[in-house]
Amino acid sequence: MDRTPSHPPSSSDGLPQDHRQVLLVRRPSGIPSAADFEVVRRPMPRPGPGEVLVRNAWLSVEPAMRGWVSAVANYSQPVPLGAVMRSFAAGHVVASDDGAWPVGTPVTGLLGWQEYAVVRPEVLRRVEDADLPLSTALGVLGINGVTAHYGLLEVGCPRPGETVVVSTAAGGVGSAVGQIARMQGCRTVGITGGEVKRQLCLKRYGYDAALDYRAASFESDLARELAGGVNVYFDNTAGRISDLVWPHLAVGARIVVCGTAGVASWDPWPQGPRLERHLLVKRARVQGFVIFDHDDHGPVARRDLAAWIRDGRLVYDEDVLEGIEQAPGAIEGLYRGENLGKRLIRVAG
Ligand SMILES: NC(=O)c1ccc[n+]([C@@H]2O[C@H](COP(=O)([O-])OP(=O)(O)OC[C@H]3O[C@@H](n4cnc5c(N)ncnc54)[C@H](OP(=O)(O)O)[C@@H]3O)[C@@H](O)[C@H]2O)c1
Repeated sequence: MDRTPSHPPSSSDGLPQDHRQVLLVRRPSGIPSAADFEVVRRPMPRPGPGEVLVRNAWLSVEPAMRGWVSAVANYSQPVPLGAVMRSFAAGHVVASDDGAWPVGTPVTGLLGWQEYAVVRPEVLRRVEDADLPLSTALGVLGINGVTAHYGLLEVGCPRPGETVVVSTAAGGVGSAVGQIARMQGCRTVGITGGEVKRQLCLKRYGYDAALDYRAASFESDLARELAGGVNVYFDNTAGRISDLVWPHLAVGARIVVCGTAGVASWDPWPQGPRLERHLLVKRARVQGFVIFDHDDHGPVARRDLAAWIRDGRLVYDEDVLEGIEQAPGAIEGLYRGENLGKRLIRVAG
């Protein structure tokens, strides 16, 4: 691992001579670990015609990165070995060959796990909510919040008085889903790992009930809280948690398949209970979605989410790791559930 200071002496244009990147150096067989990545130092890139140079202030860490580096079939091509790890990032334009994107513009996009990125502006989004912290462009006003908004409102279609169950209820996506569902007049039941997160769900994110899936009593806790039936199940885990939720579906239930964080292996492909009978008897609908298919929903979602943050109806938490050198081990930590809120890396310097 590189332990040299983050910014060596500047060149004549005021930029450092080099910067750090995190490369994928080994194809993981399951959850990516620190040994699958390497931090390297590379010469500072300069923008060519029509390009801009962005200095990343924040890097994002997603459970989905497991899929982005996997050789198992996914919705995107795997990150090539030796390439900079794909990730969302947020920062500022520091050099520009495009007058529409002047130096100082706050931006976000798939800029990768690196301190600086040269890109064409088409891949950037200008960060407009200048009164809110830049980091929110990656979490509650980024992929997490937009996913929660789209998945719950467009796929789950909750109605007032219905019961909405959310797995990974205390996480970046889940905490927003629970709060938006409450704003829709629903009863919310969160499922999370451990007592600290269970209390966060109840006291900070306003769930009507919160259950610890690691508790010995989880199955009976579910049966008690879901006795009236589940109208919307926002599923972020699949696996054992979902196996135990499905028998409690109400007639006409909608299951939003958002993530599979609870499935340990995709190779061999996991086997599970047969769900068809629950679907048939409950006339239920299961729908998966990938938020990258719904770019047009971003502005709608961000308008709502930002307004809710400003009027205090939507709270969010960020789990900040200090320094790009923390990146290699950051994904496996998510799969240990060690994050309290959206996991981010603050780039030093
Ligand atoms: N469909 C889409 O387009 C889309 C877009 C964004 C995110 N997602 C999905 O949304 C989900 C949440 O993402 P996020 O970024 O907000 O992450 P997050 O919830 O902030 O962090 C991941 C959480 O997953 C839980 N987890 C990890 N391993 C688990 C296991 N074996 N069983 C049960 N829970 C486990 C942990 O929470 P606990 O401590 O509570 O276990 C962990 O904190 C993920 O599944 C992600 O892939 C989908």
